Amino acid sequence: MTHKLGAIDLRGKRVAIIGLQGSGKTELAKHLIRQHRSVFIIDPMDEYDCFDSLKSVVRFVPPNDDFDFSQVFDKIKSYEIDMMVVDEISRFCPSRARGAKPIRDFADICRHSNTAFVAIARRPGQVQTDFTELAHFIFVFRMRGKNDSIWLANQVADLPAAVHRLKPFHFICIFPDRTFEEFEPIPIGGKDVKRRRAKKAKSKDSQDRTEAGKSA
Ligand SMILES: Nc1ncnc2c1ncn2[C@@H]1O[C@H](COP(=O)(O)OP(=O)(O)O)[C@@H](O)[C@H]1O
Ligand SMILES: [Mg+2]
Repeated sequence: MTHKLGAIDLRGKRVAIIGLQGSGKTELAKHLIRQHRSVFIIDPMDEYDCFDSLKSVVRFVPPNDDFDFSQVFDKIKSYEIDMMVVDEISRFCPSRARGAKPIRDFADICRHSNTAFVAIARRPGQVQTDFTELAHFIFVFRMRGKNDSIWLANQVADLPAAVHRLKPFHFICIFPDRTFEEFEPIPIGGKDVKRRRAKKAKSKDSQDRTEAGKSA
């Protein structure tokens, strides 16, 4: 049986979102962001511009993967945020790399201020084990790899079969007591889709004009 993800209060909680590229992780993060008052996003792929008109959401696009976050962290401490999102966290906290930033540093700045910490990666094996070991909630989208299946089986015995059955954009939430439930896709639409379409049309329009310019 699948459920609809309603409002979910994540204050003070740690959340991991995992799944293949294009499985819907960023879209789920956007849904969670909309339910929180004040959010800071580390947005390496520059995908969260839909929130740019909101004063309550601050996003930061790091210039490179080796970026030193210490100054950003000092700034965050002075904001009153109730959620921090780090998308593609494997770039900054990869599982096997010397000099990688410890995932705990991200979690720690949230812990003291009752801030939810949402970290997103494609596969659990790409990120330091703290990514899922520290998580209260783990959202799992479609995954296919053999190592992923081993990881899933280590979480809960019935999980690999349930994940393999997931339809596109469906996801499973593993709860703190390690029970799990399947959820329907996040309804997307409204402003975000209209905005994306407008953006596409605009870039096509300017492309057309450039082409017209070339032939002139
Ligand atoms: N619940 C959904 N319903 C319909 N389309 C979705 C849904 N979630 C994501 N998508 C679409 O699929 C594509 C990839 O989603 P995204 O959230 O960016 O995936 P990921 O972050 O896992 O790579 C996007 O174009 C997005 O609009
Ligand atoms: Mg994404």
